Amino acid sequence: MIGYESDDDACVYVVSKDIAIIQTVDFFPPVVDDPYDFGRIAAANAISDVYAMGAEPKTALNLLCISNCLDMGVVRKILEGGADKCMEAGVVVAGGHSIEDEEPKFGLSVMGLCHPDKIRRNNTPRIGDVLVLTKPIGTGALSTGAKADLLNKETLSLMVETMAKLNRNAFEASISLDVSASTDVTGFGLLGHAKEMAGGKASVTLEIDSRRVPLLPHALDMARDGILPAGAYRNRSFVGNHVVFEEDVSLAMTDLMFDPQTSGGLLLAMREQDVEPYLSALHERGDVAWIIGRVLPAEGTAIKVI
Ligand code: CO
Ligand code: CO
Repeated sequence: MIGYESDDDACVYVVSKDIAIIQTVDFFPPVVDDPYDFGRIAAANAISDVYAMGAEPKTALNLLCISNCLDMGVVRKILEGGADKCMEAGVVVAGGHSIEDEEPKFGLSVMGLCHPDKIRRNNTPRIGDVLVLTKPIGTGALSTGAKADLLNKETLSLMVETMAKLNRNAFEASISLDVSASTDVTGFGLLGHAKEMAGGKASVTLEIDSRRVPLLPHALDMARDGILPAGAYRNRSFVGNHVVFEEDVSLAMTDLMFDPQTSGGLLLAMREQDVEPYLSALHERGDVAWIIGRVLPAEGTAIKVI
């Protein structure tokens, strides 16, 4: 039902009129030093694509690349982090596969289930809808800062916990709502994924209010000092010509909006009247989200940042 062409977050196979299978895979090299945290983050990230599609994750298979000289204790910690995160999401880890590789990598292939009518696509935003983001951005800039030893403990742990957090509440609080488009913010950055959202047949302009985009603490400092991953510049060169920035948006802020995210939040387009109920449903679960923009009729650009 959904394959390569729409750059969606996962593939969808309709089994019957009541059941669709959502299948996704994601893995990457360590983004943090601690192996247990790396495992948690990789799992939260892989599972996130299933939530983005509007489905409930059910089973997962581990994918692990390790070098022979890596300590088995480290490997165990990675797998443990992944397993604990899957357990938290109600996902059964059903096995996996490992191969030898010089640079370690870990991730999962996750299977989820959904009613075929409830599947959410990333590129069908409805004009008039409000854009909601469920995690602050800046993990790319902060990870780069962490590599240069520029972060204090508090900032580092907030960055790790943000990446390791499941998008479960973000999805579950929205289940009963009429969400017109949904994706998760990862490697292409906020604007890259927003561009995919605007890019379908919908012919809309997404207006993003830069003052309302939530940032991790110190991410803006990093961006001001040019401490950004190469991916931020790549994203700008891929997507930049689909974005119009109002002139008072600072360069550092625009950099962060291109900053590649690891295990970022969901970006949802929902009806204006659903936003308050959604935010209070999240609040009840001890969670938050931010209104960051709206879906406008096409204005000759995919994205407008004010
Ligand atoms: Co995704
Ligand atoms: Co993905």
